[in-house]
Amino acid sequence: MAVLEQLTSQQAIDLEDKYGAHNYHPLPVVLSKGEGVYVWDVEGKKYYDFLSAYSAVNQGHCHPKIVGAMVEQAKQLTLTSRAFYNDMLGRYEKFASEYFGFDKLLPMNTGAEAVETALKICRKWAYEEKGISENEAEIIVCENNFHGRTTTIISFSNDPVARKNFGPYTEGFIKIEYDNLVALEEALKNNANVAGFLVEPIQGEAGVYVPSDGYLAAAKSLCEQHNVLFIADEVQTGIARTGRLLATCGNCSCDDKNCSGTPDVKPDILILGKALSGGAYPVSAVLANDKIMKVIRPGNHGSTFGGNPVAAAVAIAALEVVADEKLAENADRLGNIFREELSKLIDETELVTLVRGRGLLNAVVINDTEDSDTAWNICMKLRDNGLLAKPTHGNIIRFAPPLVMNEEQLRDCIAIIKKTIIEYKK
Ligand SMILES: Cc1ncc(COP(=O)(O)O)c(C=O)c1O
Repeated sequence: MAVLEQLTSQQAIDLEDKYGAHNYHPLPVVLSKGEGVYVWDVEGKKYYDFLSAYSAVNQGHCHPKIVGAMVEQAKQLTLTSRAFYNDMLGRYEKFASEYFGFDKLLPMNTGAEAVETALKICRKWAYEEKGISENEAEIIVCENNFHGRTTTIISFSNDPVARKNFGPYTEGFIKIEYDNLVALEEALKNNANVAGFLVEPIQGEAGVYVPSDGYLAAAKSLCEQHNVLFIADEVQTGIARTGRLLATCGNCSCDDKNCSGTPDVKPDILILGKALSGGAYPVSAVLANDKIMKVIRPGNHGSTFGGNPVAAAVAIAALEVVADEKLAENADRLGNIFREELSKLIDETELVTLVRGRGLLNAVVINDTEDSDTAWNICMKLRDNGLLAKPTHGNIIRFAPPLVMNEEQLRDCIAIIKKTIIEYKK
């Protein structure tokens, strides 16, 4: 079969089913084109994308500036490995370090790799700078976390589906309740072996759990008191998704400093991925200041593709789009409209119990048990009505459109979502 032969949706699904490992359970829709906030299936039906590839496509599908940068660089030089220098990486490292306000950047490809990198840097810092005895370092993590799929990362997950039968697991992690400062203080107290605290500023995969106001700032301050690194995993929440450049930090061009209700928190280690490339290419990064990043020396860590010139060119373009098109402000403004409008459903139907989120990372909690298929079935109806979204955990539907959406499009989407849920019959 020729690669470019036009397939029907069913043919494409059948091929994946027969030849692909069954590690996902996709909504049955087969996409072949994307532009801005829209995607099209192979039969030509147009949809609003309300997942944005798990918040990777913040800048919209196939953004011309990002695609242009990728194509131009791909014609010039794609990969050197880090055995040699290339003329794009340093430019990107300077640009992104200054953009996010850190001394240095370590380039990787996927979110999970960047999380692994951050954990390694944290451990090495613990032994070489904090003075923890070899192999004794511990890192505090939160219950219901999602940081990716590597063996170490799933070792501290509490999702049985992600963990079961993948042991033996990596040691050295202490799990505490999310959004619980007392638990964090307890874990830090009288334990000189704690090296870091790894946290998602909003727990996206778990169901868009927004912590209490002030939680992140207080957690950072506790970490400082105990000489423990505060590691923010902003793979999903970063790059304007929550109405600020970063969910931890108001380091954005938005004038309204109250926009997220969260005081600025500067992580010691910042982990980024997904929208760092606008979804065009796998690009992730770890950022830190010299006093931490200096523990990484030649040979300690690396990746053949990490920091390749295409990734560097794409990431610069993707970050420029975020600033030029004021995506943080747009996400903040549209997010407020989205939550205000969808919250009305709580009074209008028994199916919706809660609407929560920040910026354009939102969730609607469906009134059914976690193991019910109501949320999935609503997503199927949304699909039929031209809008693509997916449940995160059982009865929670995440709504995260590209941040280039305009108000008219958003209001159109709100109407689709409301109509679909109100008309939904079990
Ligand atoms: C907070 C967070 N960290 C890490 C990851 C892993 O990223 P990747 O799938 O690119 O490995 C994800 C992916 O959803 C995420 O949401």
